[in-house]
Amino acid sequence: MLGLGVWQVRDGRECERAVAWALELGYRLIDTAQAYGNESSVGRAIRNSGVPREDIFLTTKFYPGGKDPRVEAEKSLARLGTDYLDLYLIHWPQGGPTWAWAGMEAASEAGLTKGVGISNFGAAELQELLKVSQIQPAVNQILFSPFDYRRALVEAGADAGVVSQAYSPLGTGRHLGDPAVERIASAAGRTPAQVLIRWAIQKGLSVIPKSTHRERIEANFDVFDFELDEQSISALDSLDTTHQTADALAQRQKWWS
Ligand SMILES: NC(=O)c1ccc[n+]([C@@H]2O[C@H](COP(=O)([O-])OP(=O)(O)OC[C@H]3O[C@@H](n4cnc5c(N)ncnc54)[C@H](OP(=O)(O)O)[C@@H]3O)[C@@H](O)[C@H]2O)c1
Repeated sequence: MLGLGVWQVRDGRECERAVAWALELGYRLIDTAQAYGNESSVGRAIRNSGVPREDIFLTTKFYPGGKDPRVEAEKSLARLGTDYLDLYLIHWPQGGPTWAWAGMEAASEAGLTKGVGISNFGAAELQELLKVSQIQPAVNQILFSPFDYRRALVEAGADAGVVSQAYSPLGTGRHLGDPAVERIASAAGRTPAQVLIRWAIQKGLSVIPKSTHRERIEANFDVFDFELDEQSISALDSLDTTHQTADALAQRQKWWS
């Protein structure tokens, strides 16, 4: 439900410390990617944590500039120093939504990963994929926050049995200083980060905030002892700038096209 994301976390000490703290503080989901360049540090932190591998849910993502998801999964496993992934996602639908899926299925059939899924796929791309997939995509990881409230995309996922997972729940930090978020946080006696994370959880999504600071990693996890009331939820919903879209990103946001 709640994991640590490590995009833009420097490989080496910074990444190892963040993952080690998260595991020590109770996180059991870690989200990395081939494109992040820090799989080795994630793997080292997991191995040194003393937490059994089977208690951890480890996600990495196929970099779709590559050719063969199965071969790249083997390389990820070598860097991570583990013999399976829990979840392997196509990072974004570069070159179209279907070409990489056979390789994802091959990675699954070879036992390299327990689950396969997608990221940055809109509802139309998901439908295309479902026409050719033998193995069901488990998860679609999407840009999701009150400002990016992609309700129609989450519903399309749910209709197809795909779990939606919220990335950049804090807007990569940008939403933390928003006056409406600050007001709701102060009324709830919580931090803006906790309110944004809690909003995603109450929408039923898994959520993967990133931080490299121990006290923030701890506070971001401390969101299971309160609930946002209906008024706060609808005030947050109204911050949406996407018209509750079924698209994963606006055209101008698609960095690969
Ligand atoms: N699939 C994709 O295409 C995709 C794209 C983007 C992200 N993601 C995943 O989603 C994860 C999270 O998204 P994100 O990295 O964009 O950012 P985010 O989680 O929305 O926000 C992280 C930013 O907020 C700051 N922050 C975190 N907790 C805080 C707190 N309690 N108080 C004050 N500041 C706080 C962090 O600073 P410090 O680190 O300095 O604390 C960092 O600058 C990524 O790490 C990655 O795993 C996936």
